[in-house]
Amino acid sequence: MPAPEFLAERPPVDASEPRMIQLVCAWFLLAIGESVADRAALITGGSGGIGLAIARRLGESGYALTISGRQEQKLLKTAERLANEDLKVEAVVADVTSEQAVVDLVAEHKRQWGRLDCLVNNAGIGIGQALGEIQAKHLDRQLAVNLRALVIATRESVEMLRQAGGEHGKALIVNLASIAGKQSPPWLSVYGATKAAVLSYSRSTQKELAGSGVCCTAIAPGFVATDMTQFAQGEVAPERMIQPEDIAEAVSFLLRLSPSCAIPEIVVSRSEAGPDIEGI
Ligand SMILES: NC(=O)c1ccc[n+]([C@@H]2O[C@H](COP(=O)([O-])OP(=O)(O)OC[C@H]3O[C@@H](n4cnc5c(N)ncnc54)[C@H](OP(=O)(O)O)[C@@H]3O)[C@@H](O)[C@H]2O)c1
Repeated sequence: MPAPEFLAERPPVDASEPRMIQLVCAWFLLAIGESVADRAALITGGSGGIGLAIARRLGESGYALTISGRQEQKLLKTAERLANEDLKVEAVVADVTSEQAVVDLVAEHKRQWGRLDCLVNNAGIGIGQALGEIQAKHLDRQLAVNLRALVIATRESVEMLRQAGGEHGKALIVNLASIAGKQSPPWLSVYGATKAAVLSYSRSTQKELAGSGVCCTAIAPGFVATDMTQFAQGEVAPERMIQPEDIAEAVSFLLRLSPSCAIPEIVVSRSEAGPDIEGI
């Protein structure tokens, strides 16, 4: 079996300097007439796929949103769609492989909304390669996007989250792991390893924040019908995959729980995935 082409090389995008999309956001904020929120969420990789579904669900639940992504036009279109649905949204172009970009992203969210109740560390990439063919640049990119960025975003956000948790006891960090982090599939060894690290980091986060009103949950899905799984959609039709809205529903469920309940991990399998493919 050939190594899955989880991600084709994308053209480089210069988003190492995060910047609010001034004009569009000015228009959005004009449309909503305010920039103060009762609840606010930051979703990395909110420009498509799972991140967009979560952003929409949080927005519909009354959260003011900051969404980020690398590709400006894609991000703009998504932000426009959400704004047209009467959601409060700010879009910030940021390549999360840059530490400074993540620091500035969180700072921009704080400047815009003044608080953070839900951090969704969702941006992620997967590159399938056989063991003997793993290129260091692909290894580094997966580590940088899937793990390093999530650690830095959490570091930068934790004070605001603690404050929100102290207020209402229901601040939340959601980290997108993967079933690959539990099942360690072949040809996705690096991707699986980054996601296993996300699961471990999320457990540490949950323990370290215990009693602060901030919970941390890692969500570990099998195939979800997004751009990321296009490589597999010839074999498994998108409608037979988990839907991005299912993951949004899981986040919504977490937010409905009482402050005394924490869920460290949610594994989401495809309903028809048997033991031979271990839920993927
Ligand atoms: N789809 C699945 O089957 C599946 C299963 C398990 C876990 N997951 C995890 O779920 C998360 C979302 O996946 P998805 O399926 O929704 O993927 P997707 O459709 O490919 O979307 C990925 C998002 O991450 C952003 N992103 C990627 N690299 C970035 C970077 N360097 N800086 C900033 N943003 C970046 C993308 O923005 P740009 O397009 O602008 O780069 C996009 O918004 C990932 O962490 C993934 O590993 C997915």
